[in-house]
Amino acid sequence: IFRNVPLAPPDPIFHLTANYKADPFPDKIDLGIGAYRDEAGKPWILPVVQKAEALVVGDPQLDHEYLPILGLKAFRDASVRVILGADSPAVAEGRAVGAQSISGTGALRIGAEFLRRFRDAATTVYISNPTWGNHRAIFEDAGFAVQTYPYWDAAARGLDIDGLLAALRAAPQQSIIVLHACAHNPTGVDPTAAQWRQIAEVCRERAHFPFFDCAYQGFASGSLDRDAAAVRAFVADGFELFVAQSYSKNFGLYGERVGCLTVVAHEPAVAQHIESQLAKITRAMISNPPSHGARIVSRVITDAGLMAQWQRELETMAGRIRAMRQALFTHLQQLGTPGTWQHIVDQIGMFSYTGLSPAQCQTLIDQHHVYLSSNGRISMAGLNEGNVERFARAVDQVVRQ
Ligand code: PLP
Ligand code: LMR
Repeated sequence: IFRNVPLAPPDPIFHLTANYKADPFPDKIDLGIGAYRDEAGKPWILPVVQKAEALVVGDPQLDHEYLPILGLKAFRDASVRVILGADSPAVAEGRAVGAQSISGTGALRIGAEFLRRFRDAATTVYISNPTWGNHRAIFEDAGFAVQTYPYWDAAARGLDIDGLLAALRAAPQQSIIVLHACAHNPTGVDPTAAQWRQIAEVCRERAHFPFFDCAYQGFASGSLDRDAAAVRAFVADGFELFVAQSYSKNFGLYGERVGCLTVVAHEPAVAQHIESQLAKITRAMISNPPSHGARIVSRVITDAGLMAQWQRELETMAGRIRAMRQALFTHLQQLGTPGTWQHIVDQIGMFSYTGLSPAQCQTLIDQHHVYLSSNGRISMAGLNEGNVERFARAVDQVVRQ
């Protein structure tokens, strides 16, 4: 009965990781998937996570019962404060709620499902061009037509703010606009505060609904508050909005799938109704979310001392990435590699959008055992003092070919 099922293509980024792992070359370099690596090229278990996990598993009250449908209450409430700020008026007024989700992806998915059911006027979702590879699939699977707004100005290697604003102006009223809260994936280019104000203005004029995707809070600048500035500015402006929060990157809890959909409504009663519908959606989709990772994060974000330690460790990760940007830029300059490379130090967050062509990327994989996405995106965390020069030399050769 399934003879007509076509073979689906593999996911590009997970396929790239599999190819990297299968490559026996000893000096191979993995700049593919966005996962933090330490100076030795190894995954980093944050010391604050080790500490919190010991507290979780050492708790004599620990059991493995189901969590409530919307997850761990302490985690949800604290997660809302992490993104909106502890002093947010939306929190004080009781019109912000959080629903625990299967990481950032799950938050986007339940948010999309809710919007399809209850945002009747919105038929179209706008995502940036380019964007994270999964955005289109998530919103199409929820039944939306997905369009793109311009984002990347290839010539200027920066944000195409005019194109972006024009597209949002031309979009049908009440469209859903997916915005990267910080550290845009894949470009590493974020709007400035003034540009965010322009985006907010157009969203207001056209009654668009902002759906923020926040997968890198703390990663862009090292500061949780600074990286939440765009979301908080929209809330201060009076928007109703969603934020999909992921704790994969900023806690290094990738496989534990910890996230939260934070909802800001105009009134507490509306927030409660939305919350009840998110529970209904979650119940049918996954019944209830997993507990382990949420318990770890909850320990940290509800404790001032652990919170301070987490912020120092975020700065460690962000700082090492910044140092690698500088090291790569310096090596390329020393080699006299043709082209301009300033964007490598100007971009922020996990990724750099190098401007290398798909053919150049393929040559890097085939001839140099350097693994990166075909769009020229590199995960900066894959670089370290031991491999950054080799990578720069490989880029230099490929660019000159
Ligand atoms: N959104 C963006 C922009 C991402 O880069 C990612 C990747 O991690 C996610 C969402 C969701 O990731 P996760 O489901 O692991 O939290
Ligand atoms: C990436 O873009 O590499 C990460 O965000 C991982 C993923 O899920 O794609």
